[in-house]
Amino acid sequence: MTRDIRRLSERKRRGEELAEEEIRWLVDAYTAGEIDDAPMAAWLMAVCCTGMSDDETWHLTRAMAHSGEMLNLLEIGPHTVDKHSTGGVGDKITLVAAPLAAACGARVPKMSGRGLGHTGGTIDKLEAIPGLRTDLSPGDVPGQTRDIGLVLGAQTEALAPADAKIYALRDTTGTVDSRPLIAASIMSKKLAAGARAIVLETTVGSGAFMRNEQEARDLTALMMQLGKRAGRKVGAVLTGMDTPLGRAVGNAVEVEEAVRTLRGDGPEDVAQLSVAVAAQMVVLAGIASDTETAEQAVLRAVDSGEGFEKLVEMIEAQGGDSSVIDEKMLGHQPEKTGYLRAESSGRVTRIEARGVGYASLEAGAGRRRKGDRIDPAAGVRIMLPEGSFVERGEAIIEVMASSAKRLEKALAELERAVAVSEQEADSRPPIIEILTAEAGQ
Ligand code: URA
Repeated sequence: MTRDIRRLSERKRRGEELAEEEIRWLVDAYTAGEIDDAPMAAWLMAVCCTGMSDDETWHLTRAMAHSGEMLNLLEIGPHTVDKHSTGGVGDKITLVAAPLAAACGARVPKMSGRGLGHTGGTIDKLEAIPGLRTDLSPGDVPGQTRDIGLVLGAQTEALAPADAKIYALRDTTGTVDSRPLIAASIMSKKLAAGARAIVLETTVGSGAFMRNEQEARDLTALMMQLGKRAGRKVGAVLTGMDTPLGRAVGNAVEVEEAVRTLRGDGPEDVAQLSVAVAAQMVVLAGIASDTETAEQAVLRAVDSGEGFEKLVEMIEAQGGDSSVIDEKMLGHQPEKTGYLRAESSGRVTRIEARGVGYASLEAGAGRRRKGDRIDPAAGVRIMLPEGSFVERGEAIIEVMASSAKRLEKALAELERAVAVSEQEADSRPPIIEILTAEAGQ
């Protein structure tokens, strides 16, 4: 067993397989500050270049999961289920699917992230609700999961701290883009959070981190394998992310759209994907035996309003003001509003997700630098989605921005992201494939 980071990097660079104890030592020593950033970055780069075996990836995942607290939710019973999205633009599926699954009887203790790059984060969106606490301590999670069946909190340093530290280093050293590192990062957090089942939403397309469908499938297969090896049930939905999901991208504006979807009045793609994800959560939680039965239960939770009520319960349990939930933009007023207008008549053939994500970020809905303040009122509203016919001068997208300068920058991004022509739109559908086995897997 080698306890020398330089030798471990050399061996990894030559493509050698490292032993479980070596990987555990490396993770523990880096987390404890005994290995500096530079040698750790060299090791991460070697992994990016030569990859990792399935066994090495499993050892890395376990070492990162066990670097902090491992939540034990066994006392809550067998129906706990978590969900994770690999990130997208306009992806508010957690805000709809998690309450729907909870309304069907699943127990959903979900730790979410903040926006990363051009993608939005559930926690930034939720914080548009006045008073809502997302900085829950691990101790708060079991009680709320048991009492109301739904927790939506921020990832805490107490769970998988090794991932937080390694992720920050990867972010600044160009070593994010590695299948085993991404899989270990995501699954270590999910294993530490304790749910018995996990539904993964793997996004692919311009607005996702994976633009290639085969890469997204390989990553999904690896994460499913890691979850199963840890004794968890894992399902996945492969999601198209060429164009934004729904019509809203930002924070308050996305919560507004999620609420409309829970009330049965959301855009078709958001409704369809939310029902599919919620149904997989219900099956894997052991509440329904097959997808069809689960989908019927989820649709009933929309019709009866129980999904919406579950969101309200969660908001109140976490100190939020639920009286704003039906207001436009949750009552937030943007500083400046403007429109991207069509320069010619024709069909809207492209609303490219990544460009819209950057436009929303420039408008004030995301962070350009770590620690930047988020404007809950900033974002964009797509008025004419891909495939619509448009007249010259008609508004395609509304932009809500924090200042005139930010509005200008957001509109410049949108000009590059939107095309009007005579062709057909060819974005991937919101659901490419459901990769879940049925309950007995
Ligand atoms: N999301 C994560 O949590 N980790 C990664 O490595 C990539 C996306």
